[in-house]
Amino acid sequence: MTWRASVLTLFPDMFPGPLGVSLAGRALQSGLWSLQAVDIRDFASDRHRTVDDTPFGGGAGMVLRPDIADAAIASVSDERPLVFLTPRGRCLTQQDARRFAAAPGVVLLCGRYEGVDQRVIEARGMEEISIGDYVLSGGELAALVLLDATVRLLPGVMGAAESAAEESFSRHLLEYPHYTRPADWQGRLVPQVLLAGHHALGAAWRPAEAERLTRERRPDLWALHTSATCCAPVASPPAAP
Ligand code: 6GU
Repeated sequence: MTWRASVLTLFPDMFPGPLGVSLAGRALQSGLWSLQAVDIRDFASDRHRTVDDTPFGGGAGMVLRPDIADAAIASVSDERPLVFLTPRGRCLTQQDARRFAAAPGVVLLCGRYEGVDQRVIEARGMEEISIGDYVLSGGELAALVLLDATVRLLPGVMGAAESAAEESFSRHLLEYPHYTRPADWQGRLVPQVLLAGHHALGAAWRPAEAERLTRERRPDLWALHTSATCCAPVASPPAAP
């Protein structure tokens, strides 16, 4: 079965955008996943195709109407997880990406920053997700990020190189540094242990570097890596379609 993404947005032209090229784009072309961008404006009922209104109680900006958001959701909603992209949400993790990849697909509602009427978020039991502590103009770029992180985990999408990066991060470790030819570039030398004849040393050096980098740069990840709950075998990817 094809993994299905439906994105509810006021800017359907932003999709597939960067997901139309490279790894995700090839997977989209080959039918490993599908992407449906739904224009929320198609669910407006007035002549001017109005989707928002001023907030009760005053305040800046406009709010997406609950009836219109709900009609857009109803047009695509099924058993898939329903996610509202908002800077108020919980921050997206690799674990979320794995969970979405294991589902039949996702339905993503892209908010404008001012927001969506709270009642429709509650009525639909939407999961609220953010991609970091900064404000974007809308949820669309966050939806693209969530989809990229998820689609690469679908069976048949990643090659061996990408799998290694995923495995490293799943264990809460940053990846070790990489080097290729020339061995001397502008006087900067490739670490001696990686050069020919040192394969056993190199195999020990790489995980040690991954640990050193994680400890130095990301004490938060390092704490997870060294905690009891980490390094249990990572859940296997969903079965091939
Ligand atoms: Cl999901 N939306 C917006 N508008 N800004 C964000 C975000 C989402 N995540 C981080 N910043």
